[in-house]
Amino acid sequence: MIVAEGLEKSYTSGGRPLPVLRALDLEIEAESFVSIVGPSGSGKTTLLGLMAGLDEPSGGRVLLDGKDIFAMTEDGRAEFRAQKVGFVFQTFHLLPTLTALENVLVPLELRGDARGARDRATALLERVGLGGRLHHFPAQLSGGEQQRVALARAFANRPKILFADEPTGNLDQKTGASIVEMIEELNREAQTTLVLVTHDPALAERAHRVVSLADGRVATDRPGRSASVSVTAPS
Ligand SMILES: Nc1ncnc2c1ncn2[C@@H]1O[C@H](COP(=O)(O)OP(=O)(O)O)[C@@H](O)[C@H]1O
Ligand SMILES: [Mg+2]
Repeated sequence: MIVAEGLEKSYTSGGRPLPVLRALDLEIEAESFVSIVGPSGSGKTTLLGLMAGLDEPSGGRVLLDGKDIFAMTEDGRAEFRAQKVGFVFQTFHLLPTLTALENVLVPLELRGDARGARDRATALLERVGLGGRLHHFPAQLSGGEQQRVALARAFANRPKILFADEPTGNLDQKTGASIVEMIEELNREAQTTLVLVTHDPALAERAHRVVSLADGRVATDRPGRSASVSVTAPS
């Protein structure tokens, strides 16, 4: 379960505050699949970053699994995030000096079980169809392949929550569709809560619920196409 309560975020621009989120309230059920849509600049990325604890709000709270993530120390929050949260960035954010396998290993490295980590990373890359690209560097991979490595990395720690910020924005339609299918499959198999930001209306509709942002708040909140099969959290 994700709760954003009175969430505020202002940036400073030219010495003046630029409010982006204004007392935004949003609750997301465990194991559900929610799309977030809205015009460019409406604060989608900002909201995702706050809910994932990557950035600090100007006001309000975020609860993940009942824990107030901004009441934690920065180290505590990083640890909590490493255990519970996966994040897929629009621009992949792979480390260029590491191979595909090494990129997926990064979140697993703290575990102390080197052999197990390597097996898991390899299995994840096979799962996204990259078993033959384990030792390629990001620059040697296509955009779709890089996004699949990023996806494998995001799932490495079996996150309870996956945030994906326009994960298909830089891909052609066919590759984008296969990425989304993979996210949905991994979501169903691992009962991961999925929060997806997208510009693509067809993609947004695949969710249980579609939330739109405008003026720093939730503007509309309605069922998506798969609402009828919406899961209920076995709390
Ligand atoms: N680090 C930043 N500093 C100043 N302004 C920012 C920063 N990040 C985002 N913004 C501004 O906040 C607004 C919302 O940005 P963002 O959350 O990226 O929107 P979206 O993802 O919906 O396109 C935009 O107007 C953007 O220019
Ligand atoms: Mg954005």
